[in-house]
Amino acid sequence: MERTFVMLKPDAVQRNLVGELISRLEKKGLKICALKMLSISRELAERHYEEHKEKPFFQELVSFITSGPVVAMVCEGQNAFEIVRKLMGATDPLKAEPGTIRGDYAIYMGNNIIHGSDSYKSAEKEINLFFDKDEVINYSKDVDKWIYG
Ligand code: RTP
Ligand code: MG
Repeated sequence: MERTFVMLKPDAVQRNLVGELISRLEKKGLKICALKMLSISRELAERHYEEHKEKPFFQELVSFITSGPVVAMVCEGQNAFEIVRKLMGATDPLKAEPGTIRGDYAIYMGNNIIHGSDSYKSAEKEINLFFDKDEVINYSKDVDKWIYG
């Protein structure tokens, strides 16, 4: 089953959106397999966003993501990473459609509420960065049998 990494960024926590955002993911049908709040170290932030290390916004990005606690999750479901990216909306809240998370809750690119892996390769890397193996729970739900047999 496909899994993806999701992070509710510090602005989501500061704005009391954690419950609302987890609810959106759950209601869509994604299964939560891991969930924790943590403060991200500078080292973890730099590894998580290493693909952007040469970009002009990298320092701002690292400062923001380490500025307060985040909520890290692993979500499971068919096409998990694409589904989460659709729910998130475009990176730039100006381009994110209303009805998407960024379209509904963000106005500034630097504070765009939520992160979701952009491929299964990055999902695997990010899940391993944020979670120990025994923190990711394998379990089934009866409703999954309708979809996955
Ligand atoms: P994320 O990784 O946080 O889920 O966001 P994303 O895939 O939609 O966008 P990505 O290209 O990976 O960029 C990571 C974060 O960097 C900030 N950013 N600023 N000023 C800029 O041009 C710019 N571009 C990206 C955003 O906060 C974005 O979420
Ligand atoms: Mg990204």
